[in-house]
Amino acid sequence: MTSTASATGSPHYPSPVSEQDYRERYRRSIESPEAFWREEAQQLQWMQPPQQVLKGRFGENHSHISWFEDGVLNACVNCVDRHLDTRGDKPAIVWEGDDPSHQRTLTYRQLHDRVGRFANMLRSLGVGRGDTVTLYMPMIPEAAIAMLACARIGAVHSVVFGGFSPEALASRIRDCDARVLITADISQRGGKQIPLKKYVDEALALEGTACIEHVLLVPCGDAPIDWKARDINASELIETHSPECEPEAMGAEDPLFILYTSGSTGAPKGLVHTTGGYLLYTAMTHREIFGLREDDVYWCAADVGWITGHSYVVYGPLANGATTFMFGGIPGGPPDYGRVGRVIDDHGITIFYTSPTAIRAMMGHGEHIMDSSRRDSLRLIGTVGEPINPQAWHWAHDVIGNGQCPIMDTWWQTETGGHMMAPLTDAENFKPGAAMRPFYGVRPALLDDQGNILEGEASGSLVIEGSWPGQARTIRGNHERFEQTYFSVFEGHYFTGDGAHRDADGDFWITGRIDDVLNVSGHRIGTAEIESSLVAHPAISEAAVVGFPHDVKGQGIYAYVTLMQEATASEALRQELVETVRRDIGAFARLDIVQWAPGLPRTRSGKIMRRILRKIAANEVDALGDTSTLTDPGVVDALIENRINR
Ligand code: WTA
Repeated sequence: MTSTASATGSPHYPSPVSEQDYRERYRRSIESPEAFWREEAQQLQWMQPPQQVLKGRFGENHSHISWFEDGVLNACVNCVDRHLDTRGDKPAIVWEGDDPSHQRTLTYRQLHDRVGRFANMLRSLGVGRGDTVTLYMPMIPEAAIAMLACARIGAVHSVVFGGFSPEALASRIRDCDARVLITADISQRGGKQIPLKKYVDEALALEGTACIEHVLLVPCGDAPIDWKARDINASELIETHSPECEPEAMGAEDPLFILYTSGSTGAPKGLVHTTGGYLLYTAMTHREIFGLREDDVYWCAADVGWITGHSYVVYGPLANGATTFMFGGIPGGPPDYGRVGRVIDDHGITIFYTSPTAIRAMMGHGEHIMDSSRRDSLRLIGTVGEPINPQAWHWAHDVIGNGQCPIMDTWWQTETGGHMMAPLTDAENFKPGAAMRPFYGVRPALLDDQGNILEGEASGSLVIEGSWPGQARTIRGNHERFEQTYFSVFEGHYFTGDGAHRDADGDFWITGRIDDVLNVSGHRIGTAEIESSLVAHPAISEAAVVGFPHDVKGQGIYAYVTLMQEATASEALRQELVETVRRDIGAFARLDIVQWAPGLPRTRSGKIMRRILRKIAANEVDALGDTSTLTDPGVVDALIENRINR
C-alpha cells in the first residue's frame, strides 16, 4: 500500500475546513441563524432578493415552513445563464458513456443553447408553470438538460430512476399527473441495454397513465425504434427551436421537483423540494464540504434518478459554475472493475463522490485493478448512501486516493435535499466510519424511545431540531402523511429514521435505519413495498421482509414467505417470487434469500416481530432478546432451524 497516513497519523493534505473555522462558523450559524442565512442567500442570483428568511417552526406550524418566501429567482438561470460572462467557455458537463468511446463536453455557453432549445420545445407542447414532467432517462447530458429546461419554464420535474420497472414508473406518473414523459430508447450500463422505450410503452398501457400527452424520446441506440403516435423524436424537434428562452420568474417556495422515495409503510412518497432554499443549500454544501475550487473537475457517480444525482450531479455543481462529470457506466461494476481509475486519469478528475458499495465492489477485486491508473489528479473523495465501514474507508483512502485525499463521508437523505453531516474538521481528526459533524445551521439531537433528549456520549434516534433551507416541504398530494412521517414520531423534531451514536468527543456515527426501510447498495427500498408485491402472488398468504448484513451491498434482502395451504415450495416458485418483485419494483430490488415460513412470529396484539426476524436473517440466533410476548414461540424455533444465512 502507498498509504501516507493512518487513521491516527498526521496526513499532510489539507481538509476543506479547519477545526477552528468550522467551530466559529457553526456557532454563528446557530446563534444568529437569521443573519447567517440572509448573508448566504446573496450567493444566489435573485430577480427579487428576499427580505424574509425562515418562517415557521417545527412543533408548531412546521407544516408551513418557508425560506426566503418573498424572493424571486429561476434555478436554471442560476445554474447556467449567470456563468456565461465569466465561465462561458468552461466545461459545464463532461460526459463519458458506458462505451468509453462515447464522450461529449458542453461548455456553459453550449449548455445554455441546449437548455434554451429544450425549454422552448417543452413550451411548444403546452408545458408551463406548475405542470409536471416525468423523466425516465439514462445517464446522458440530456437528463440534466431536461431537468434544467423544466426549471427554466417553471415546470416541476419528477425523475424516475431508469432501473425502475414499468409498474413502478406507471405509479409515479399516476401519482403526480405528469403531462409529458421524457425518455430514451435504451439505457446502456455495464455493457447491458435496458429497453427504456419498451418499458415506457408497457407503463403507458397501465391504468391511470392517460395523463401523459406526449413522449419526448432522445434516441441513443442503433436499433430501429418502435415509434407510437404520442412519441416525438426530441433530437430532431429540438433543432427547430430557438436557443433563446425567457425564464419564468419563480417564487422561492415554488416547487422545483418531486422525487419519490421509499418509506416504512405504503407506497413511495413524492417528496417536494422548492426552488430558493434547495438551490442555496445544495450549492453551499457542495462548495463548502468539498472545498470547491475553480479548476476542479468534479465527478459524482450517482444516477440522476436519485437525490444525490439531483443535488450533486446537477443543481449544486452547476449553481457553483463547476465542471460536473457525468458517467454512463457502473463505477466498480463489470465489465471493467478498474475503470474508475482510468476515468479519473483521462478527465483529470479532482473530486470523486461515490458510494461505499462501489468502493467495496472495487475492493473485492483487489488492489491490482488500480494498477492501470495513477489517479494523481484526485484531491478529495466523498461517500454517500450508507455508513462506510472502516475497511472500505481505508481502501478508498490508501488505494484510490493514494493516501493523499480526505474522505468526506456525507450523511443526508432525499428529504434533507443536501448534506447534513460530514467530517468538517482538520483531516488528521477524521474518524473512518463517522460522518462526524453537522453542517452549518443543522442541529442534530439524539432521543431515547420515550423522546427524551440524550446528552453527551449516547446512542439513540437521530432527529433534527429546527429547519434548514434544503428540507423537503411536503409529500405530493398528502401533506398529512408528511406531518405524520416526519414530525409526529417525536413531536417538534424532524425524525430521520436513522439511529446514531455520539462519541465522547461529540462526533456522530450513523448506525443505519431504525425503521422498516432497507438500504441495498445505497438504494432505499421499503420492506412494505416488497411485501405487498409478494402477497399479491396467488401462492403467497403472508410475507415479511428484513435486511441482513451483506459484504458488498451493505444490506441484502431476506424474505420470509408463508404459502397458501394448497401451494408447495419449490425452486421454480422461489424464482417466480424473485421475478415478481423485480417486475413490481426493479432489478435493483433483488431478493437475496427466500425462506419458506410456515408461520411468522407475532406478538399477542398480532404484530410481526421483525426484530426477531432480523436476528435470524443475520444468523444471530443466540441473541434473540425477549421473546416472552410471542404468541407461539415454537414458530421461532422452526424458523431458526430452517434459516438459510448461516
Ligand atoms: C443512509 C441518500 C450512513 C441513511 C443521500 C439515510 C447514510 C438514507 C449515509 C437516505 C452516510 C445516507 N452514512 N448512512 N454517509 N448517507 N445514508 O434518501 O440511512 O436515498 O437515512 O438519500 O441513506 O437515503 P436516500
